[in-house]
Amino acid sequence: MILTVTMNPSVDISYPIPDFKLDDVNRVEGARKTAGGKGLNVARVIKQMGEGVVTTGVLGGTIGDFIIQELSKDRIENYFLKISQESRNCVAILHDSKQTEILESGPTLTAEDVAAFLRKYESLLTDVSLVTISGSLPKGLPPGFYRELVERSHVRGIPIVVDTSGESLRQVLVNEVKPFAIKPNITELSQLLGINVEPGIESLSQALSNEYFQGVEWIVVSMGCSGAFVKNGQDFYQVTIPKINVVNPVGSGDATVAGFAVAVKHRQSVQAVLKTAMTTGILNAMEDVTGYINTANFESIFNQVKVKKIDL
Ligand SMILES: Nc1ncnc2c1ncn2[C@@H]1O[C@H](COP(=O)(O)OP(=O)(O)OP(=O)(O)O)[C@@H](O)[C@H]1O
Ligand SMILES: [Mg+2]
Repeated sequence: MILTVTMNPSVDISYPIPDFKLDDVNRVEGARKTAGGKGLNVARVIKQMGEGVVTTGVLGGTIGDFIIQELSKDRIENYFLKISQESRNCVAILHDSKQTEILESGPTLTAEDVAAFLRKYESLLTDVSLVTISGSLPKGLPPGFYRELVERSHVRGIPIVVDTSGESLRQVLVNEVKPFAIKPNITELSQLLGINVEPGIESLSQALSNEYFQGVEWIVVSMGCSGAFVKNGQDFYQVTIPKINVVNPVGSGDATVAGFAVAVKHRQSVQAVLKTAMTTGILNAMEDVTGYINTANFESIFNQVKVKKIDL
């Protein structure tokens, strides 16, 4: 069983309004409302791969109820901490081939909420063999909060995959206890190191040799349509992927985390882990719905992903 953590889930509302008018009334048909949050995308893809998954995090109010309802519809087990404040809505207005987003910041957690969540997390750890953490933190949590989750899983020998950015990612990496894996994209990697990492072997291998990554078993730098560059132990790999018909790449990083987690749980070879992780990312990009993969295409894509070990 894999546990996915989403600390600040949302209801994602998309409004297709082709001729969006400012300072006027806009009527919308075909509004879509889904349970959002990067960890929920990870969970959905794990579930579609036929693997056991449990979701946790913090939610509240009627928006929180909607999220639980949606997860239950997909038969995804959910053990979120319920708080008195309302979870957030995130609105995307689709107009003139553009996307204008309005993102609520969500609830501010109290010290009691944090303590209650950590108790829940501890109890969930007794039944899982791998943990994934995705996305940003809600207000009220210090940027080092994910360190706490990494340490608690480490004590039990449970590998943990962290997909976050900015100060949250930095805090996880400067800690003595390291996560098992991270999956930054190239922008997040550049931001972490404060340099502009180029997508070439030299720049990437140099970047991943930074002290930040010592003791992290897997660093998977995903690069959209250019595949990935990876450090596993002391080895570097370049992963190339086939050209596909891209429909909607949003959430492909989350799908990659899902594929990675499932493959690691099954103790697949390095090659197979990377091929699986890329394949689920690609399959997500081929679909309109975020966090959805058509598993019927898995094998054909998997066979077209190439993993090359780099001799430096
Ligand atoms: N345009 C694309 N064409 C083919 N594959 C893609 C494309 N975009 C993403 N993928 C696949 O998904 C993986 C992860 O995508 P990406 O690097 O964009 O993650 P990300 O920036 O973390 O995305 P997000 O945070 O929105 O989930 C890529 O390594 C690749 O395998
Ligand atoms: Mg991402």
